Amino acid sequence: MKTKIKELDEHLNNELKNSTNETSLDKLKTSFLTSKDSKLNKLLEEMKSYPKEQKKEIGQMINRFKFGVLEKLEKHRQELADKKYKHRLESEKIDISIQGLKQNRGQKHPLNLVINEIEDIFIELGYDLVNGNEFETDEFCFQKLNLPIGHPARDMQDTFYIDKNTVLRTHCTNMTARTLSKLAEDKTEFNNVAMISYGNVYRRDDDDATHSHQFMQMDGFLIGENISFANLKWTLEYMCKRLFNEKTTIRMRPSFFPFTEPSAEVDISCVACAGKGCNICKHSGFIEVLGAGMINKEVFALNGIDANKYQCLAFGIGIERIAMLKYGIKNIRDFYENDVRFLEQFKFFGN
Ligand code: DAH
Repeated sequence: MKTKIKELDEHLNNELKNSTNETSLDKLKTSFLTSKDSKLNKLLEEMKSYPKEQKKEIGQMINRFKFGVLEKLEKHRQELADKKYKHRLESEKIDISIQGLKQNRGQKHPLNLVINEIEDIFIELGYDLVNGNEFETDEFCFQKLNLPIGHPARDMQDTFYIDKNTVLRTHCTNMTARTLSKLAEDKTEFNNVAMISYGNVYRRDDDDATHSHQFMQMDGFLIGENISFANLKWTLEYMCKRLFNEKTTIRMRPSFFPFTEPSAEVDISCVACAGKGCNICKHSGFIEVLGAGMINKEVFALNGIDANKYQCLAFGIGIERIAMLKYGIKNIRDFYENDVRFLEQFKFFGN
């Protein structure tokens, strides 16, 4: 029996040398251990012919043989798996030191940078952002803002008419009229409602270095039962300090807009010379940046708001103007030509 088992062991060793895959290992397992006429079964059969006293020893021998076979098969299976894994690692090797393909990253347009900045300031102050429409009725672009048909102040805004009643909006103040009307229509109690709205506006201007027939504005207002001109001044100065720098001051000059009374043009202390006087501020120390005022009682009436109960501060900002001052841009057309060499310069501003 001993020699037989030794022979079987050697036979298995030889077979294993030629086994290069799982299937041949499975076959070996069947022929050695699990099939009906397996080598193991034959040994067990043979054991029966041995005298009783030897059976225990023979049985242990056969058992050792059985576990030996299982162990060898398992070891070989593991070796095959390791080999396969090593081969995969080798064949799928990636050289991480090779330089990658350079991806061109875009960046925000300078006008969007300014819009995002102003948006952040007002959202922090509790203003809502309202979407606006560029096609507007004559009613909401003009009439509800105290600019009735035939009013001479309409000449201030050369208008593109789509038809008799529809215009390309000349300012974002249309959204002030729309939002005020909506508040009145809702007929619910309100106090301290504030919104900003920005987008494209259009005027029949001849394009030059500082004028464009299409440009961007952001308008905003705050309506409540206790709103004063002082709130307006604080809000605008706070915005300008955040947009430019802490030292920036504002100056409000009396002006005229049909929808506000009083109305003001707002100047900031020159960002280039800090008010001392230079070419940029035409030696005045100040630069005009926006229009503002307290919403006119007429406009309250036209939009259904109770003028005895509410006051409303309002302002309209030219986005290009702010961007030109902030980034030292001389020609408004640069914003619209989309020359990558121009746009790429804004990579490092808030992108
Ligand atoms: N809409 C005016 C313009 O385009 C700017 C403006 C002035 C807007 C005063 C306002 C405001 O909301 O209160 O010239």
